Amino acid sequence: MSDAMFRLGFDSPNEEIQVDPLNFKGKFPSWLKGNLVRNGPGTFRVGEQTYRHWFDGLPMLHKFTFSGSQIAYANKFLDTQAYQSAMNEGKIVYSEFATDPEWTLKDRIKNFISPKITDSAKVNVTKYGENYMALAETPLQVLFDPETLKTLGTFSYEDNLVGQMTTVHPQFDGQHNQAYNLVTRFHQTSHYQIYQLGPKLQPKRIASIPVKKPSYMHSFGMTPNYFILTEFPLVVNSLSLLFWLKPYIENYRWLPQNGTRFTVINRDTGEIDAHFEHEAFFGFHHINAFENDGELIFDIAAYENPDIIKAFYFDQLKSPEAKIPFGKLRRYRLPLQKGSIRYETLSEVCMELPNINIQRANEAGYRYIYAVSVNPNEKMNFYNQLVKVDIQGKHNATWYQSGCFPGEPVFVPRPGASDEDDGVILAVVLDENSASSFLLLLDAQSFQELGRAEIPQPILFGYHGAFFNANQDQGETQTHD
Ligand SMILES: [Fe+2]
Repeated sequence: MSDAMFRLGFDSPNEEIQVDPLNFKGKFPSWLKGNLVRNGPGTFRVGEQTYRHWFDGLPMLHKFTFSGSQIAYANKFLDTQAYQSAMNEGKIVYSEFATDPEWTLKDRIKNFISPKITDSAKVNVTKYGENYMALAETPLQVLFDPETLKTLGTFSYEDNLVGQMTTVHPQFDGQHNQAYNLVTRFHQTSHYQIYQLGPKLQPKRIASIPVKKPSYMHSFGMTPNYFILTEFPLVVNSLSLLFWLKPYIENYRWLPQNGTRFTVINRDTGEIDAHFEHEAFFGFHHINAFENDGELIFDIAAYENPDIIKAFYFDQLKSPEAKIPFGKLRRYRLPLQKGSIRYETLSEVCMELPNINIQRANEAGYRYIYAVSVNPNEKMNFYNQLVKVDIQGKHNATWYQSGCFPGEPVFVPRPGASDEDDGVILAVVLDENSASSFLLLLDAQSFQELGRAEIPQPILFGYHGAFFNANQDQGETQTHD
């Protein structure tokens, strides 16, 4: 990776701006109406200090408003305690994923007695009823106004925040009415807890599973009848989190000899239905899960080990010798009655930040996954192309442009569409050539560019976002030059 690319995507703090409309070139799908809201770091610098890892930083929301013929853009830092403290004191005050403040022994003792929990909800966004929320792995989630992007307050699953972690990938039921999320509670005996959350934000605990050494799980699987916890052997002793002598993720240990354990929880009873032991592997993202023909089947972007976390430290990203480990699509099959677990690698293509047409969640015959990837012809230690993986036909498609680094592709279905891939892909792309970013619109079927909207600054590499529909009107595409 060149220094220039690193400087643009990881280093330059983003300015708060509003541009209405963005300069757009291409064909605009006039049915596309609503807001794409993306989350990610707005800066990795505080005063003279710099965070250490891609998963650190202070959160910024980005909103692209599609009005049928043009796109408006606005961004705003989440006005959190972590952000305010950093701005007021000119230094990192709260611990993040892989960066601790520069603590003295006295500070560490103070943090042991009264832990400061970051509210840097920078990883994802979602909507519960009419509540828009920025999501973090820490227990503090941040509510925001979708029009102004102003921070409105915080939400947590429990009052006692100390010793909890959650995921930024809640699962929704078929009606998109009730959400479910995993909250790990660290204690002498720790627990994996599943919470149900309705539109009124009243959490209800529906499962509590004791565990000796909790696993680092960034997501989980859900089918109509089951939750699936994929317990990778990247585990933590709760005591080390209590004393917090090093940044959060560095308290976890990789114990491959323990293997990966799949815990299947019955959604009705909240009880464990089955355990399955398997060889060690690691992953961030469950992609889809379904029940079919007596099997519980799920797809996941899988790694041999958790080295991908190490690859995202800035010293690694800056190193010309470093190589990014490839996540590959695996399909696991767990027998619901008798039989043994099995898996197959469905694709050798590098994939991360995977997305699907969410209308096909829990469908056995779903076919397409959209993801960021690495072009095999480039020596590159960061994602530099988009892929559309065809699970059934194996006819993958890619979008690649030299010097461009796309973020997570979000699929938006065309209203009234019947084909799974009838819609558009939206992705923020950093363009090294112009030293700025643009929002890319791809036709999801052909994977060809429909158009791009120029953003007058480089956007730091973010994580996840979501499209919130304005209406269900249908329409044809319009051409802009
Ligand atoms: Fe994620």
